[in-house]
Amino acid sequence: MKRLHFDEINSTNTYIKKEYSNLDNLTFVSTNFQSQGRGRLSRQWHGNKGENIMFSYLIKDNSLISNYSYISMFNAALVVKYLESLGLNNVSIKWPNDVYVNDKKVVGILLEGKIPSYIVVGIGLNLNQTNFDNSVLRHPASSVKLEKPDFNSTSEVETKSLINLICSFWIAFRGEWNVFDDFIKKHNYLLNKRVKVDLINENIEGTVVDIDVECNLLIKTDKEIVKINSGEIQIL
Ligand code: BTN
Repeated sequence: MKRLHFDEINSTNTYIKKEYSNLDNLTFVSTNFQSQGRGRLSRQWHGNKGENIMFSYLIKDNSLISNYSYISMFNAALVVKYLESLGLNNVSIKWPNDVYVNDKKVVGILLEGKIPSYIVVGIGLNLNQTNFDNSVLRHPASSVKLEKPDFNSTSEVETKSLINLICSFWIAFRGEWNVFDDFIKKHNYLLNKRVKVDLINENIEGTVVDIDVECNLLIKTDKEIVKINSGEIQIL
């Protein structure tokens, strides 16, 4: 594992995308501040300097790249495990890869890449920040500090520990793509919620009934059970 750290950078995802051919598999790039932090669907990702965890890492291993949807859910699952290890309760995955604590978004994950060459996984975790302007955010945001006021640690210490958790997981990984099956099912934030999904040719409305072994979201509509493998979920 290699780690590069920048006091400030435009975006750790952008950095890895530009430099991927010069970087090794499992290179982590962290920062205290991003001037052009990016979220999913061309949104922005903001955070106060030095208060949060923000890093990206590079996956170049072929056997992993070909399992894109698992990579996305596995990162969310690893982050849930990490938050639970800090003593947080009611932590869950909002499919495909946000992490919620007590109904509020604490973590966003952005996967980008050029398959089959590489995948960049970018993780933004609100740690010690306590001010969020929820009037401009699509989902109410929170942080570890807000959800657990006796939490007392720095973003550097916690960045190291989350990076270690993720890195050791992948180093030990031998293609057991079912390791998180039960864990993901048990931590499905959307389970039993009414949702709407805008797909290219149609809109689907129904109740979330499961996440299957291939990490698809299963939605029960009036007529059938629909399998969703990408898309933006709106809770009704
Ligand atoms: C989302 O919820 O839309 C995903 C947010 C991802 C934010 C992280 S912070 C580190 C990495 N660099 C970026 O520019 N974005 C990701």
